[in-house]
Amino acid sequence: MFPPVSEPQGVRLSPAQISITRERPARAIHARAEDGTTFVLRPTLMTDVDAILSAFDASRAELCKFMPWAHQPQATLHQLERLRECETNYFSGRELSMALFELHAERETLVTMIGLHPRVPLNPSGFEIGYWTPTPFAGRGLATYASKLIITYAFDRLGADRVQAICDEANLASRRVMEKAGLRFEGLLQNITQRPSERLLQQGFIHSGRNPMFALTTDEFQVQPWVSKLRATLRYFNIVGEPESAI
Ligand SMILES: CC(C)(COP(=O)(O)OP(=O)(O)OC[C@H]1O[C@@H](n2cnc3c(N)ncnc32)[C@H](O)[C@@H]1OP(=O)(O)O)[C@@H](O)C(=O)NCCC(=O)NCCS
Repeated sequence: MFPPVSEPQGVRLSPAQISITRERPARAIHARAEDGTTFVLRPTLMTDVDAILSAFDASRAELCKFMPWAHQPQATLHQLERLRECETNYFSGRELSMALFELHAERETLVTMIGLHPRVPLNPSGFEIGYWTPTPFAGRGLATYASKLIITYAFDRLGADRVQAICDEANLASRRVMEKAGLRFEGLLQNITQRPSERLLQQGFIHSGRNPMFALTTDEFQVQPWVSKLRATLRYFNIVGEPESAI
């Protein structure tokens, strides 16, 4: 996917000199919230398997309303294989599956799952965000916060020129997250998602066939009222875990 890597002859970069790009994405981004809480946004790893399965178990009812995959049994080994793929895709810059963790006394608590997906047809520099918040943490602004963080990462380090998000028309909480993160309503798309089976509908899956599309372009992102304040709270760690030097 990416061009071959070369360093100037006779020069060896120090690990700290490796900059964060889509080809070499961040190992972690630390963020300090206004109330002093420290958060870490980082790729999901195979070592997160237990935390993700526990979060899923606590959220199954909410997830089943809008996420078709939540209707499948979530077995440990299956999840492990999915996470293996997520790691590969993340570190090669193809698709960035991440999670937001609250950091307390060196312990990470998973508070939102969020990703940047290459789902903008005809634009490889566009991303679509998708997210879910474990039900015990819902309603605390965490999906909005995680969205702002990952949007900032996408525009500031990954070369994105568009970040979009869609939800079912009936998913008012998700729509609210998009609005709070400053994404602009572009229009209502119809039948862009597969019609679900009768079984899924009987199990409570909601599918209106209508999806509001929200997006931000680079120029729109730069003038968001929250951007400069949020940026100032971030500390990026490069692909080998070194803190990024001031740029
Ligand atoms: C949608 C979801 C991610 C929101 O996560 P969250 O961390 O609770 O989000 P936030 O706290 O940042 O914001 C939620 C907003 O939605 C509002 N909201 C919640 N339920 C709502 C409802 N039924 N109707 C209208 N607004 C609602 C909240 O009041 C809040 O807005 P406010 O701050 O203006 O009061 C979470 O509910 C979830 O994981 N749902 C299941 C998976 C899903 O639908 N993912 C999105 C797929 S597109």
